[in-house]
Amino acid sequence: MAVLVLVFVLVFVIIRSTITALRPGLRSIPGPFIARFSCLYRPWKIAKGNAPDFYLALHEQYGPIVRTGPNTVDISDPKAIPILYGISSKFLKSPFYDIFNPSYEDEKMPNMFSVRDPAQHQALRRPVAQKFSMSSIKSFEPLTDECTSIFLAAMAELEGQAVDLGVWLQWYAFDVIGAITFQRRFGFMEDRTDKWGMIRAMEKGLVYAGIVGQIPALHSWLLGNRWVARIMAAQSFFEVADPLRSIVRFTQQCIDEYDRQPEEHRGRPDFLAWLRESDGKGNRGDSTAISLRAVIYFLAKNKSVYDKLQKEIDEADRAGNLSEYITYTECLELPYLQVVIKEAMRCHPGVLFPLERVVPDGGVTLCGARFEAGTIVGINPAVMHHDKTIFGDDAAAFRPERWTESDDEKIKLMDRHLMTFGQGSRTCIGKNLSIMEMGKLIPQIIRRFEIEWASDQPQWCVETFWFAKQHGLICRLRLRER
Ligand code: HEM
Ligand SMILES: *[C@@H]1O[C@H](CO)[C@@H](O)[C@H](O)[C@H]1NC(C)=O
Ligand SMILES: *[C@@H]1O[C@H](CO)[C@@H](O)[C@H](O)[C@H]1NC(C)=O
Ligand SMILES: *[C@@H]1O[C@H](CO)[C@@H](O)[C@H](O)[C@H]1NC(C)=O
Repeated sequence: MAVLVLVFVLVFVIIRSTITALRPGLRSIPGPFIARFSCLYRPWKIAKGNAPDFYLALHEQYGPIVRTGPNTVDISDPKAIPILYGISSKFLKSPFYDIFNPSYEDEKMPNMFSVRDPAQHQALRRPVAQKFSMSSIKSFEPLTDECTSIFLAAMAELEGQAVDLGVWLQWYAFDVIGAITFQRRFGFMEDRTDKWGMIRAMEKGLVYAGIVGQIPALHSWLLGNRWVARIMAAQSFFEVADPLRSIVRFTQQCIDEYDRQPEEHRGRPDFLAWLRESDGKGNRGDSTAISLRAVIYFLAKNKSVYDKLQKEIDEADRAGNLSEYITYTECLELPYLQVVIKEAMRCHPGVLFPLERVVPDGGVTLCGARFEAGTIVGINPAVMHHDKTIFGDDAAAFRPERWTESDDEKIKLMDRHLMTFGQGSRTCIGKNLSIMEMGKLIPQIIRRFEIEWASDQPQWCVETFWFAKQHGLICRLRLRER
């Protein structure tokens, strides 16, 4: 009897998979054979943390559209950008993003980043847009300058030693986010440690999200299930990679600490509102840190770019154009610095998973293929940024001059295909904020220190679970004569 049931189930699964595999439209899309049948193909492949290489190789082999799962297609055609991500696009975020919904007391609370419904998204984004306006970003400058001061003092103290700059830049970025959000630093740099194990918890959470997010339905059987989550939280045998729980704890701690401060409580954060966004907050520290690391890495690896940037900064400094703490306005007047930052983020964008969207009602024709409503389509920034028709034959190389030597038309074309901060209505709200942070800190370091690569490895190593996180940015800093 049991055997009969098993055979029956097996036959059912095979028939169902075959029907899915042969779905009209998708049937003709090239791709790995197993991917047609099984949604396990992608999580299995990217579990090593090499998603960008995986997607680049797929397009190399199969062309501009590749079927990467029974209902999932990855696209590299630049013409698809405005269709998928255009400002009035009807392509909504896919269920992949649900895994980033924090929950509190068993209630899921989508945040601005994870929410899928356009009306809900508007409701979350509109009220805070003001906080990211130019004038309000400028008001954050003194807070970041305090962090910069601590960072520079630490670097001066560690002068001559091989230090993991990657770790320091992450502490810096987290402290800035803390300073901006709670008007006080978390103290990562002062304590020189991963406070509350927050960075580690988030890192593990992202591995979970990156893998399980490939099969979103699985999440509600795992940590998305309140009973599983409770059991996991109650035991101490397995370390739990539950970012949501640690974020709840973390937010409570921040607010408790904030309350203990003697200063008058200007704009005390509302717990639930902060919690809703706090998931994003930590992640924002991460993405800024990734971008800072990328800039330092490419500078340390290319002497001619480094020297040219140092010269620009020194000349501006000698002309009296730079304050003790370089202001946002001042850094915008350093054109080479701006393209170095832009190019570093092109070569190493923070997010290197496909930005998945769902084909809306009525279906769509992309690259000559017809897709039904409900198909999941996405473009991976890694793949787009390597497109030679847009960025030139040297698309894979770090060359800031591409942004200054090309003609205006070409620069506009490249700009339209940059996916560092996403695109369209779901574009990153923190873009200017992070450009401010980076534009201020980088010249501050270059002006004061000489940076050299001090690792015994020739390169950093990158692990991608949504974010493309680097390890091993070992550098030696030397104070310069002034
Ligand atoms: C260099 C640093 C950063 C990078 C590379 C980056 C990258 C991105 C990308 C690629 C997206 C779009 C994701 C998608 O379409 O799935 C995004 C969205 C978002 N980012 Fe950033 N980000 C950075 C810094 C920040 C900062 C500092 C903040 C806030 C303080 C922030 C807040 C957000 C929010 C709220 C969204 C969702 C926006 C929406 O859907 O309306 N980001 N970011
Ligand atoms: C961000 O900065 C760019 C360039 O400096 C500017 O054009 C844009 O208006 C800014 N965005 C916001 C929301 O202030
Ligand atoms: C300093 O600033 C002035 C005024 O903005 C500008 O004309 C000049 O070129 C700058 N000098 C340098 C070396 O950047
Ligand atoms: C360094 O950068 C320059 C200018 O962008 C470029 O021409 C050169 O090929 C790069 N060198 C290396 C070793 O990557």
